[in-house]
Amino acid sequence: MTKTDILKMLNDADTYVSGQDICDKLELSRTAVWKAIKQLKEEGYEIDAIKNKGYLIKSVPDRITDLEIKSLLADGDIVEDIIYFEETDSSNNQAKIMAEHGRKMPFLVIAEEQTAGKGRRGRKWISPKKSGIYMTLAIKPDIPPQKASMLTIVAAMAVANGLKKACFDGHEGICQIKWPNDIVINKKKAVGILTEMSAEPDMVNYVVVGIGINVNNNDFDESIREMATSISLESKAQVSRRDIIAGFIHEFSRLYKTFEESSDLSGLMDEYNKCLVNINNRVKILGDASQYEAQALGIDKYGRLLVKKDDGEVTAVLSGEVSVRGLYGYA
Ligand code: BTN
Repeated sequence: MTKTDILKMLNDADTYVSGQDICDKLELSRTAVWKAIKQLKEEGYEIDAIKNKGYLIKSVPDRITDLEIKSLLADGDIVEDIIYFEETDSSNNQAKIMAEHGRKMPFLVIAEEQTAGKGRRGRKWISPKKSGIYMTLAIKPDIPPQKASMLTIVAAMAVANGLKKACFDGHEGICQIKWPNDIVINKKKAVGILTEMSAEPDMVNYVVVGIGINVNNNDFDESIREMATSISLESKAQVSRRDIIAGFIHEFSRLYKTFEESSDLSGLMDEYNKCLVNINNRVKILGDASQYEAQALGIDKYGRLLVKKDDGEVTAVLSGEVSVRGLYGYA
């Protein structure tokens, strides 16, 4: 814990922090502080140490370990338990195993690499080392199972907001949501979300919300090249994966509190609809048996997409039953 606490103090400060302040605040000896700083340097942190001034973090390694993320947590964050895997099959699978074994929720599983990453509709989510963020939030909401898909909507908003703040200087309108939960940048997909649940007829045992973010990828498989992008391609800047993850946790915590007040999306749907890539545009609704064009009006408090058909009828479509496409491509 010492290292995490020291890291947190240094992260929170934008100037030098004196060794004495660290000792006093954390009740540590000078030697303990010195040892922890030495370890952090060995782990790749560039820390400036100046006599009579103290310590300043100059650069951080692109690490997304539990230690790293915990040092960025803020008051009000609802996720404190973070589990990191250097490599695993799928963070969703691991989160489900831990939830089944009674681990207290919420918790967040982060993987540096996934060997069997899962996408929606039985697809694979290619998950190479360092290129992306592969994380799964496990949570036990006090809602009936029919409402669980709303959490995916909350998570999508949290990722979009987190990305906007961490990578695009807070600019509105860059990270948009393609209903229900893909994040698109310039109409190309940068984030996918796969939600899985275990439930009884009237209660949820757990929901795992798995989030895959293309961060440093600069080339994609031919099958998805036309529709996929990454944060570094779009922001054209150095991207910090840890800031994205911490941003997601902060935003999810804020939004989830609003969600809990009504157990639906009534307090969030306006904010969501502002991010919706196809709002007011014509879209193609693709069902199993049929497809039609309509105008997308935005979501309702249940997370359904309201669309206006050509005969003027407004109907609500359910995620899972249909997919929505722009008229000229994926978004
Ligand atoms: C999609 O198909 O759009 C959803 C992709 C979800 C991928 C993420 S990566 C982290 C988590 N673990 C998985 O195996 N899948 C999700």
